[in-house]
Amino acid sequence: MGATRPDDLKHMVLHFTKGKAWRDASVPIYVRGDGCHLWDENGRRYLDGLAGLFVVQIGHGRSDLAHAAAKQMEQLAYTPSWAATHPPAIEASKLVTSLAPGDLDAVFWVTSGSEAVESAIKFTRQYHRSQGNPEKTKVISRRLSYHGTTMGALSATGLDSIREPFLPLLGGFLKVDSTLGATDGVAAAEQFEEAILAAGPETVGMIIAEPVQNGGGALVPPPGYWQELRRICDKYNVLLTADEVINSFGRLGHWFGSEMVGVVPDMLTFAKGATSGYAPVGGVLIRRQRVDELLDSANGTFTHGATWGGHPVSMAVTIANVTAMRDEGVLDNVQEHAGYFRDQLDAIAASHDNVSEVRGTGYFYAVELTVSRDRGIDLTDDQTVRLVNEHLPRMIQDAGLLIRADNRGKAKLMLSPPLIAKTEELDELIAGVDQVVSRAAEVHAV
Ligand SMILES: Cc1ncc(COP(=O)(O)O)c(C=O)c1O
Repeated sequence: MGATRPDDLKHMVLHFTKGKAWRDASVPIYVRGDGCHLWDENGRRYLDGLAGLFVVQIGHGRSDLAHAAAKQMEQLAYTPSWAATHPPAIEASKLVTSLAPGDLDAVFWVTSGSEAVESAIKFTRQYHRSQGNPEKTKVISRRLSYHGTTMGALSATGLDSIREPFLPLLGGFLKVDSTLGATDGVAAAEQFEEAILAAGPETVGMIIAEPVQNGGGALVPPPGYWQELRRICDKYNVLLTADEVINSFGRLGHWFGSEMVGVVPDMLTFAKGATSGYAPVGGVLIRRQRVDELLDSANGTFTHGATWGGHPVSMAVTIANVTAMRDEGVLDNVQEHAGYFRDQLDAIAASHDNVSEVRGTGYFYAVELTVSRDRGIDLTDDQTVRLVNEHLPRMIQDAGLLIRADNRGKAKLMLSPPLIAKTEELDELIAGVDQVVSRAAEVHAV
């Protein structure tokens, strides 16, 4: 292909991308994918250590998924999910609910994670109102969390830098601390109870949290945390929403992160991995009883929807992806190799004084960077921003990787390879990460 940049890029506005990176033509242009690898327009090969964006569970270049989409387009490209439906939506709903924990027995389909979160917020409001609790409108979420960019989801998001430009437009959702640094799960969860009591239990409708939080860097909660959230929500009639836009469909070695933490939430939001990126999909799984209570109420409708919700092609791809993941033992692959992956990352930490911590589980990790772990010298805020925005993107590209440099919280590398990665691909990823960490050490050598 070969682009004539930077002129070619001026006709599009990139998401969350600094104008400088975009204008000086340093943005990679990927043209092809196969398995765990990507190729750019110059024919250079990259190891996709982020599964695109926590998405491509089954790997790139699957013609069976492409065929499932094409077949559905020929058969029936579109009918809505408003007062009608179609076979792929019925089948996808059966399949996904059959894998979901507990009585999460109904799906509301949308097309993105933000929309899934937005839908959970709106369901909460309508549910409580339908049950005679119109005051229960407040949402509690956690600091450093990312729940999406639409106004409701952004109100739940706990990252100041992306909220700040829009503050006058956002809802006043309540925030408590993430589990970063927490060791006592029950004590960490108590913050939610304190926030509910301070706000007045009759005004709080929902708690939303990721089982393993991405913002802050793959924060695995201490034992007992989610059990305590469940107890608190039951006590105060608050809906517990697990935001599993990243955590679900095998990322943590289970179909759903809630399964891993051992709790059935009232709602579970998902997106990304449900189609492995072969079509856009999002959804909210809702407990049967909650759905019935709303639908049997006087209004009897969830007053919310969108043209593309439950799109036939996305539904066909969801079925093809989830079925293939199940039949090919993709989750077993994660379970089998996650320990090895973790050990290799721990070895990188052990041999590099500029790694402060490795966190995560399954195929989802953060490698947190510092100046010197042993001497307790941390990066300043300025150094963190420069490292993440200026140095790391180039180093990552030089190492032939697609991974993410993140400074939400401390500077870190986020790793989330396709779930089909085996020892060979993990070794390639580890070698690249080792190279990036070594070069990062030179930037702030002490
Ligand atoms: C936990 C979580 N929730 C919601 C979202 C928003 O999803 P989307 O980008 O599909 O709107 C994301 C996106 O990364 C996410 O990680």
